[in-house]
Order: sequence, then structure tokens, then C-alpha cells
Amino acid sequence: MRILVSGAGSGLGRHVAAALGGVPFLRGDAVEAFARESMEPFDAIVHCAFNAMRSVPWDRLVDYMSDNALLTARLQQIPHRMFIYVSTVDLYPRDGKIHDEASDIRAENLHGAYAVTKFYGEALVRAGAAPWVILRPTSLLGPYARRSTLARVLESPESVVGLSGDSRYNAVLHEDVAQFIQLAIEHRLSGVYNIASSDDISLDEIAKAFDRRVTFGDHHYSAPRLDNSRATAVLPAFGRSTLDTLRLYARRCGLENS
Ligand SMILES: NC(=O)c1ccc[n+]([C@@H]2O[C@H](COP(=O)([O-])OP(=O)(O)OC[C@H]3O[C@@H](n4cnc5c(N)ncnc54)[C@H](OP(=O)(O)O)[C@@H]3O)[C@@H](O)[C@H]2O)c1
Repeated sequence: MRILVSGAGSGLGRHVAAALGGVPFLRGDAVEAFARESMEPFDAIVHCAFNAMRSVPWDRLVDYMSDNALLTARLQQIPHRMFIYVSTVDLYPRDGKIHDEASDIRAENLHGAYAVTKFYGEALVRAGAAPWVILRPTSLLGPYARRSTLARVLESPESVVGLSGDSRYNAVLHEDVAQFIQLAIEHRLSGVYNIASSDDISLDEIAKAFDRRVTFGDHHYSAPRLDNSRATAVLPAFGRSTLDTLRLYARRCGLENS
């Protein structure tokens, strides 16, 4: 299997490229170099790259759009048999309802540049010529992940975070997402998948379960509530609770009280 993995320099892309033996597509790589007509199509393009900038002033917007919206269209020019796009659960409203993949998402109801560019990427992929899979993952944890609030709480006996203790997380592991992607390619899956654990949990409950001392802030975050049954039917590991997923992550990292 020949797979091209974008964003293979860090995070999920790095893990997927290593686990699946993918060809890395890194910042600065030219699409044209991979798109030569003589080249055999890739069995799959796994598009993980994104620009993690949280605030986007006008003089960074062109680069932001180039990384998060236009790159998807450019990668589609590379010959491929399947396109796997890593999107986000941030497309779903935080309205307390459980959302499955058939939820009616509208651009005008999205919040922020990140969600809008991801929704645009999804639309490009759906309109593309090749079979496609869209993954909407919750918070990602793994060896190459950026240090998120969740990772800091787990990895330090004491920490100070900006989020409130009642903030709620749903988390999945890079290794499970990579395995899901492998199955998606092997079994020629198609459509949208919520890549999530079976429930969510508050930061306060996480701190107690791992015996961590955390000073919380007052910014509230809540992962949307999700139906993950489509993904669980493919990979039963997503049937784990978020707490069990965090315990597994902590064991993998050799953390105390895991
Ligand atoms: N992290 C999460 O909790 C989470 C949750 C849901 C969905 N996701 C999605 O999952 C995917 C992976 O997230 P992550 O947090 O693992 O990512 P990450 O660690 O931030 O890595 C993203 C990589 O993409 C690269 N990149 C950006 N623009 C590029 C370009 N134009 N060409 C080539 N590479 C480029 C970045 O390079 P630079 O370092 O040079 O910018 C970086 O190496 C993303 O699509 C994200 O939206 C993430």
C-alpha cells in the first residue's frame, strides 16, 4: 500500500506516517513533485496537515487559508484512489444534544475560522472524484501531540490551567486513529465518521482519577456530545470510555497513578 500523509512532521500525521509506512508530505513540499503524470496513483492520501494558529490577524490570514483550506484542493491534484480527510468535531453545536454524522451542519452556524475552513475542506473532499472518508476526531493524544491542557494535567503532578474544572473532554489516541485509517483503506470504507470515545468527562474528574493537583481557571470548554457507533462498528476500541482511554495513554507514557 502506498499512502501519502500530509502534516507528517508532527502530531497525528507523524504517527500515521510511521504506523502505516506513509510517504510524508511536509511543509515546503511541492504538490507538483507528487503529481507527475507518470507516477502511479497513491492508494490513499491521508490529509492531517493544518495550521494550529489560534488567533488569525489580517496579515496571517492568507497563510492560514493556504494551509487550512487551499492545501486540501492542491493535494486533490495528486493522483490517488482514496482521500481521507481529518476534520474535527468542532463542526457540531454544543447544544447538549447527541450528534451523529448525519447532523445538518450549516456554515452560518459555525464558530471561528478553524471550523469554517474544516467545513470547506470537507465540502471539497465530498465533491472530489475519488472515494473519500472524513474523520471527525475529538481531542487527540499521542506521542507526537502538541502539549494540550489535557496532556499537561495528566503529565504533571501539579499544574495551572486556564480551563474550568467542569470543562468536559472526549479523547482518542493516535494509535487508534491510525488503526482506523488502516482499516478504512483496506476495507474501502466511505463517508463521515465521528472518531470519539464512548463518553466525555470533566477535567475535575480526570484530576481526581489521576490524583493530580490542578489549579483551574474560568474558561469553559465542552466537547460536543457524539454518537460514535459508526466508528465503533469498525474499530471496537472507540467503545472505551474517555477515562479508560486516558488510563491507556498514561500507561503508554509511563505516568504515575495510571
Ligand atoms: N489535536 C487535536 O486534538 C485535534 C482534534 C480534532 C481534529 N484534529 C485535526 O487532526 C489533524 C492533526 O492535528 P494535530 O494536532 O495532530 O496536528 P499538529 O501536531 O499541529 O500537526 C500539523 C502539521 O501540519 C503541518 N502543516 C501545516 N500546514 C502545512 C502545509 N501547508 N504543508 C504541509 N504541512 C503543513 C504543520 O507544520 P508546521 O508545524 O510547520 O505548521 C504540522 O507539522 C488536523 O487536521 C486537526 O485539525 C486535531
